[in-house]
Amino acid sequence: MRSPWVVGVSGASGTPYAAAVLRALFEAGEPVDLIVSRAARLTILDETGRPFRDAHWKDDLAAWLGTTPGDVVHWPAGDLAAGPSSGSYPVRGLVVVPASTAACAGIAIGLSKDLLQRAAEVSLKERRRVVVVPRETPVTRSHLEHLIALHDAGAVVLPASPGFYGAGAGASAQQLVDFVAGKVLDALGVPHTLFRRWTGELNARSQLSEGGLL
Ligand SMILES: Cc1cc2nc3c(=O)[nH]c(=O)nc-3n(C[C@H](O)[C@H](O)[C@H](O)COP(=O)(O)O)c2cc1C
Repeated sequence: MRSPWVVGVSGASGTPYAAAVLRALFEAGEPVDLIVSRAARLTILDETGRPFRDAHWKDDLAAWLGTTPGDVVHWPAGDLAAGPSSGSYPVRGLVVVPASTAACAGIAIGLSKDLLQRAAEVSLKERRRVVVVPRETPVTRSHLEHLIALHDAGAVVLPASPGFYGAGAGASAQQLVDFVAGKVLDALGVPHTLFRRWTGELNARSQLSEGGLL
C-alpha cells in the first residue's frame, strides 16, 4: 500500500527549503503527496520567477525542482475532499515547509481553512509524524503560543534556522538551505546526504593541530 509523506508548501518565504526537501525525498525513493497553498503560489513566483499552476503542476514542479520528480501525487489546496483530508487515507506523516505564521496558527487551532491545514490536523490527530518549518522573524507572542500548541500536539517544530558548523562561515545559500532540509529529513527518519554531520571535532581545532598551533 502506498503510504506517502504529505509535503505542504505554505506562503512563507523560503521556497528553496521546500524544493530541497522534495528533491531529497525523491532521491530517497519516498512517495510524496504535494499540497501547495494559494499564497505559496505567490512566494514560488516571487522567489523562482516560475508559476505553480494546478492544471500544469507536473511541468511546473519539474521546472521548479530542476529535475524529474519521483512518485508524486498533487492535490489542489482547495480540494477538501482530497485523500489527505481523511485519517483513513494512508499517510506516513506530514511536513509543512516553509510554514507561514498563518498556517501554524490555523493548524494549531484546528481551523482547517484549506487542504494543507486539514491534512496537518489529520496527521496530528492520527498521531503521525508532523514537522513544521516556520519562517518568520521577529515573532509575536501569538506566533510563539501557536508553536507551543503544535509542539504539545506532537509536532516537531523545526525553525528555518540553518547552522554554519557543517560548511563553515563561507557556506553558500544552497548549503544553508540543505542544512535545514537535512534536519527535516532527520526528523522524518529518511536517510540523506544533505549536510556533513558533526563529528565531535572542531574545524578550527583540526586546522590548528595540523599547523602545530594546538
Ligand atoms: C512574497 C511574500 C512573502 C511572505 N513571506 C512570509 C514569511 O516569510 N512568513 C510568513 O509567515 N508569512 C509570509 N507571507 C505572508 C503569507 O503568505 C500570508 O500570511 C498567507 O496568508 C499565508 O497563507 P497560507 O498559510 O495559506 O499559505 C508572505 C507573503 C508574500 C506574498
